[in-house]
Amino acid sequence: MLQVKHLKKSFGEDLLWNDLTADFAPSTISAIQGKSGEGKTTFLRCLVGLEDYDGGSISLDGQGLKSEDIGLVFQDYQLFPHMTVLENLLLSSKYKKKDMDLMEKKAMSRLEEMDLLDKKDAYPKALSGGQKQRVAIARACMENPKVLCLDEPTSALDDGSKESIKILLRSLADEGMCILIVTHDGPFAKDLSQKIFHIEEGQFTVTRP
Ligand SMILES: Nc1ncnc2c1ncn2[C@@H]1O[C@H](COP(=O)(O)OP(=O)(O)OP(=O)(O)O)[C@@H](O)[C@H]1O
Ligand SMILES: [Mg+2]
Repeated sequence: MLQVKHLKKSFGEDLLWNDLTADFAPSTISAIQGKSGEGKTTFLRCLVGLEDYDGGSISLDGQGLKSEDIGLVFQDYQLFPHMTVLENLLLSSKYKKKDMDLMEKKAMSRLEEMDLLDKKDAYPKALSGGQKQRVAIARACMENPKVLCLDEPTSALDDGSKESIKILLRSLADEGMCILIVTHDGPFAKDLSQKIFHIEEGQFTVTRP
């Protein structure tokens, strides 16, 4: 269980939120909504450790959240343009000096799961938006994180690509992942998530689809 308690964040004098409190369970999909500027992206960045917070706590199964426990898919994917799909998936493992034969097998099985095997040697510029999104998800899943966060995953996708992302995210939740999706897309959130969290005046309000 991912637990967020009384999380507080300001930028300089500007208080963004003063009390974000929520539990996110394994094998569930939660949507996070809120007006532009309420701090949804900042919340994900705090979870993954890219941003400091000013108070409160984040824990996973009662312990501090380690970076390998959580993956983030950025809104603009942030794939490395000079690397192939397979190289994008393997970069972090290479950097961490992991067993590369093993990681390559894992990458190939993720690519197969995401229907991308035929794109393994392609460069990002040769991929469609939906394919880039799936590569970014595959990359974030390479270390089997317990928590996967996605920032506006459907903003650049057509309906067909949205459907394939939905199927993919459901299967990752079935594997046991706790998935958090920041999205403006109401129907997408309703269709996919067990809980919807709205950030309003620095707090979460929970509704169910
Ligand atoms: N590094 C930073 N320094 C100062 N202010 C920041 C920084 N990052 C974000 N902010 C401010 O914090 C607020 C929340 O930003 P954030 O990107 O988290 O919003 P958001 O809810 O994701 O919005 P959107 O729906 O438009 O993506 C904004 O007012 C933004 O200007
Ligand atoms: Mg944002």
